Amino acid sequence: MRDIWLEIGFGGGEHLVWQIANNPRVGVIGAEPYLNGVVSAMDALVTRELTERVRVYADDVLALLRVLPPECLSRAFMLFPDPWPKKRHRERRLFSAHLLDKLAPLLRPGAEFRFASDIDDYAEVAIEAARAHPAFDIARVFTTENRDTMPDWPVTRYEEKARKQGRGATFLVLQRAVEPKV
Ligand SMILES: C[S@@+](CC[C@H](N)C(=O)[O-])C[C@H]1O[C@@H](n2cnc3c(N)ncnc32)[C@H](O)[C@@H]1O
Repeated sequence: MRDIWLEIGFGGGEHLVWQIANNPRVGVIGAEPYLNGVVSAMDALVTRELTERVRVYADDVLALLRVLPPECLSRAFMLFPDPWPKKRHRERRLFSAHLLDKLAPLLRPGAEFRFASDIDDYAEVAIEAARAHPAFDIARVFTTENRDTMPDWPVTRYEEKARKQGRGATFLVLQRAVEPKV
């Protein structure tokens, strides 16, 4: 296996299963504390005989990030993290400068970190945090209108749910900077 990818909060695992099925030389670690989601993902992986290249961490990703070795990941995903829309709950949002601090040393230089949200102010804060972070560049930002320009980025369950409720999404591709930004 050449590359290890990390999916944070994979929910029911649809995206993780698609990636593992379509990238035969990649291993994926999925971090997801919601046990029904873990069971759904495992069920799909077992049915399709795709378990070999997957490892599931059924808990808070921040604990996992503390033990992974430096530069072990060549891609990471965080798709539609819990929105915590109320102002007093914003601190609970998983995408933050703190998360970028913890993730950055684990990504190889040049590695992608893909993020998506259907909550406008979450996407804006994510873009700002990425811009300000010395270890990340922003490679791409696009919205639902340009969704088909990324054929290797399948629609997730939450993206579909948001669409049905009339909400588009913002998609962000961060790149682990090769040299620290000045
Ligand atoms: C809104 S759901 C999105 C699921 C999936 N990515 C999708 O787009 O359909 C957010 C997921 O993040 C998971 N999550 C929340 N906190 C987490 C944490 N600290 N570490 C890993 N996953 C977390 C939740 O359990 C939930 O399944």
